Amino acid sequence: MTATNRRIVLDHRPEGTPVAGNFRRDDQPVPELSDGQILLRNHYLSIDPAQRGWISPGVNFADPVPVGDVMRSLAVGSVAVTRNAKYAIGEFLYGWFGWQDYCAAGEAQVIARVQPAQGPVSLGLGLYGISGVTAYLALTELGRPRAGETVLVSTAAGAVGSIVGQLARRLGCRVAGLTGSDDKVRQCLAEFGYHAALNYHNGLDAPALQALCPHGVDIFFDNTSGAIADAVWPFMNLRGRIVQCGTAAVASWDPAPLAPRRERIMLTRRLRHEGFIIFDHLERFPAVVTQLARWQQEGALVFHEDIETGLDHAPGALAAIFRGENRGKKMVRITNGTRAL
Ligand SMILES: NC(=O)c1ccc[n+]([C@@H]2O[C@H](COP(=O)([O-])OP(=O)(O)OC[C@H]3O[C@@H](n4cnc5c(N)ncnc54)[C@H](OP(=O)(O)O)[C@@H]3O)[C@@H](O)[C@H]2O)c1
Repeated sequence: MTATNRRIVLDHRPEGTPVAGNFRRDDQPVPELSDGQILLRNHYLSIDPAQRGWISPGVNFADPVPVGDVMRSLAVGSVAVTRNAKYAIGEFLYGWFGWQDYCAAGEAQVIARVQPAQGPVSLGLGLYGISGVTAYLALTELGRPRAGETVLVSTAAGAVGSIVGQLARRLGCRVAGLTGSDDKVRQCLAEFGYHAALNYHNGLDAPALQALCPHGVDIFFDNTSGAIADAVWPFMNLRGRIVQCGTAAVASWDPAPLAPRRERIMLTRRLRHEGFIIFDHLERFPAVVTQLARWQQEGALVFHEDIETGLDHAPGALAAIFRGENRGKKMVRITNGTRAL
């Protein structure tokens, strides 16, 4: 074990979308443990669109990360030292371990045990982490898809969106995707089971959406909000469901951006618009991960990981996902097993 804990801390808050310069390195000694804690050696750090909200003022579900603190992040680490009998040295865990080499964690920071038998431990951050479990629960419980319905997904080729597309297809729906490049459109059609997909940079006018969803939209799985949502809402069918899973297209909620009024569409089409936060559903992780792992091992799910190497790349990786540069679940690998990267 090195004596130093490399850490990425928040230097100052972003104006809108974060840039690498919002963060800085602040190395400290490896933390000491109290009774009940474990020392995690982080291997993979998660890069999540939600991290923009976690460091920004505005409408959030948790207090923002204080300036000077380690960047809040999910991570997969292995137990290096334990003062808690529930956790054994060497076991892999997924939880709130931050953008740093080592984390002194209590039980409340652990979300799930990562099972190497279910595949590479990096899957614990994505397919078996909040991406896969969110896709499964938000689609099935809020969207309640029925065979033959049309499901439209924004960020269709991303970590969450690619799983939503595949699950909706499994459930017999017609699945359409909105994504940010022609290459991702090809990926949606060739790999993720979408029946149709559109690069929204090529235009999102009514004829384009009519061609994408000729029978309207029964479930809009919305990861972006913004101009994409403004274009899609008028295409909602009677008794349609809008699953609000993310707001990736809105750089800042302070002040909240103006949008067309939607109440008349809600009223006349009898729509249901519901927000989903995965952290309300942590008790569901083991059962959902078991199901996802079964499909994965049968070869019935495609999941891409976009892995950068080196702790210092984490801030730039966060900025890059808001340029749509990631191809699958974005993460940063910070060890080669034992050595720091
Ligand atoms: N509610 C929850 O509990 C929960 C849990 C996990 C994730 N989420 C949400 O799910 C969404 C997807 O997350 P993910 O981890 O799977 O990320 P991801 O889709 O793998 O990557 C983010 C993608 O967002 C799109 N994007 C970024 N900036 C955009 C903009 N200005 N306008 C339109 N699209 C933009 C880009 O895709 P394109 O190239 O296709 O535009 C980018 O690749 C996010 O909104 C995230 O916050 C919610």
